[in-house]
Amino acid sequence: MSAPENSIQLNAAGQLRHFLSIHGLSRDILEDILNTAEGFVNAEGQVVKKVPLLRGKTVVNLFFESSTRTRTTFELAAKRLSADVLNLNISASATSKGESLLDTLSNLQAMQCDMFIIRHSDSGAAHFIAQHVEEHVSIINAGDGWHAHPTQAMLDMFTIRRHKGAFEDLSIAIVGDILHSRVARSQIRALRILGAEDVRVVGPNTLIPAEVEAMGVRVFNRLDPGLRDVDVVIMLRLQKERMQGALLPSADEYFQEYGLTAERLALAKPDSIVMHPGPTNRGVEIEASIADGERSVILEQVTNGIAVRMAVMSMAMSGAQRPSRPVEPE
Ligand code: NCD
Repeated sequence: MSAPENSIQLNAAGQLRHFLSIHGLSRDILEDILNTAEGFVNAEGQVVKKVPLLRGKTVVNLFFESSTRTRTTFELAAKRLSADVLNLNISASATSKGESLLDTLSNLQAMQCDMFIIRHSDSGAAHFIAQHVEEHVSIINAGDGWHAHPTQAMLDMFTIRRHKGAFEDLSIAIVGDILHSRVARSQIRALRILGAEDVRVVGPNTLIPAEVEAMGVRVFNRLDPGLRDVDVVIMLRLQKERMQGALLPSADEYFQEYGLTAERLALAKPDSIVMHPGPTNRGVEIEASIADGERSVILEQVTNGIAVRMAVMSMAMSGAQRPSRPVEPE
């Protein structure tokens, strides 16, 4: 199934030119991202210090919503590609004075920037901006509303592949607040495109999106059966800032039902890995000893974020130098 983003996220040669969503991308493109990222890390998983791929380019981090990990790793990635980087916390500047998103963008384009990394609380914000930028400019979605967080999903895929190899035979459980999670949506898409057959979402019905099965996952309302024999456990934060009304019991009750403890992790395969996109809430969705334990790869995910973002940025920048796709008839 193709996604609306695809008419603009690929160029005429079918190469990545903006990175807005995983939806509709081919397995080849996702594997290309993972393989390119592999070239930016050594055998120990350390990221290369500096390469000249984006020399002379200016990358702008345009964050309308707060972030530490994502913004910082995009900044490090851009610097390691030798780009000049500008960080803009927009909620604190222009838009709070009534300037529209497009005005802000036109001003930034007039400064001749080449790539914008966008985080916004509205689903579709990065896509909207991508429709309005000049030919040579590339847009990367760093998280839009509940919709997508494609670079997070790809750094998660990279981390899984480094530990587990091929995706086909893996069982993966994504646990917690799936409803409000752009990370979960992008992970599910990526896992399915890369060939994972057994993808499970686990959580109370109030936090599972309607018809999520159509994305190719199985729903579990109880944690124990959801975790049984999985290779990968992905825990998610409760996105309280996005919840309206009473979707949940207290944090204590939530931990009783869905918190990852040593006892529960014993249901997964003995060599399973534990992941979390962060920020983690120890004692709410995950016991501290598990978040910091030997099966946790949470900090590796952060490091891998640099290499994967370097891969996406270098691929999109080279894709933006080529002619764009002809407009498809309606
Ligand atoms: C996630 C996000 O912002 O969507 N965090 C991240 O990018 N590392 C998940 C979250 O906020 O819980």
